[in-house]
Amino acid sequence: MKVLRTIAEVRFARAKLGKVALVATMGALHAGHVSLMQVAKKHAPHVAVSLFVNPTQFGPREDYSKYPRPIEEDLRKCEEAGVELVYNPSVEEMYRPGLADIAIDLPTLTGVLEGAKRPGHFKGVCQVVAKLFNILTPDVACFGQKDYQQLRIIAAMVEALDWPIQVVPCPTVREPDGLAMSSRNMYLSAEERGRALAISRALRLAKEQVKAGFRQTNRLLTTMQKTLLEQRLLVDYVAAVDPLTLKNIAEVSGPTLLAIAARVGSARLIDNTIVRPV
Ligand code: PAJ
Repeated sequence: MKVLRTIAEVRFARAKLGKVALVATMGALHAGHVSLMQVAKKHAPHVAVSLFVNPTQFGPREDYSKYPRPIEEDLRKCEEAGVELVYNPSVEEMYRPGLADIAIDLPTLTGVLEGAKRPGHFKGVCQVVAKLFNILTPDVACFGQKDYQQLRIIAAMVEALDWPIQVVPCPTVREPDGLAMSSRNMYLSAEERGRALAISRALRLAKEQVKAGFRQTNRLLTTMQKTLLEQRLLVDYVAAVDPLTLKNIAEVSGPTLLAIAARVGSARLIDNTIVRPV
């Protein structure tokens, strides 16, 4: 496994490889990230992983400086997963002094849900993912449905800019009790972790209501909200939106994304699921 720090090294190594699948990450790797590497392997003979905590996607009061960076452990997990190339640049390499600030905006997709609560977040995500795509020139890029809006925005960006990259959605990996895996789960105390289960439970309960024939999203959102409040979670949003346009929908008449963002202690957690009418 090659671990490369500079753009020049990556371009040199990349040129010798055929079809490459990229898994972009901020490190602190868990089984969710590893599952993306496994999906990547099925799509291409060579798998590249980027490990980079991207400062431009964090808000001023967010957790950029305390975000975990267990680099040795991350490299070991990549190696075990059969990754061939790791790109682990410095902030100075990615954002060289004097580079112009640049924004790729998809306002209808970036202005809602996470984008409404974290201004500038998706500007930073699009900026870094566009750079990673240009540096690594992958044929395939795997993104998790855990961050559904991010996946949707990147797929839309690739399509709108005619990038010859196949964006592959990958299912959310959960702990046995339902909690979606996240690097931010590390911030939870045992007591908070127990309360955080309300997030996946809320999604499960809403899904059951759909299965039982309920279609009004208001009803589903009320159930979700109530489930979160019972555990004293601070709800950033609960939403029912069209999975392609991310616009609110009133009735489950086709695929519908149910999404939650809530705070538990110092952690801000997100999760989602797609429901369909019975
Ligand atoms: P990060 O949070 O490290 O996530 C990297 C990738 O792993 C994303 O595609 C994310 O959706 C996926 N992922 C995280 N938890 C998952 C889970 N439980 N199951 C399945 N997939 C999961 O997302 C980012 O980094 C950054 O925004 C990035 C795209 C790297 C740009 O900086």
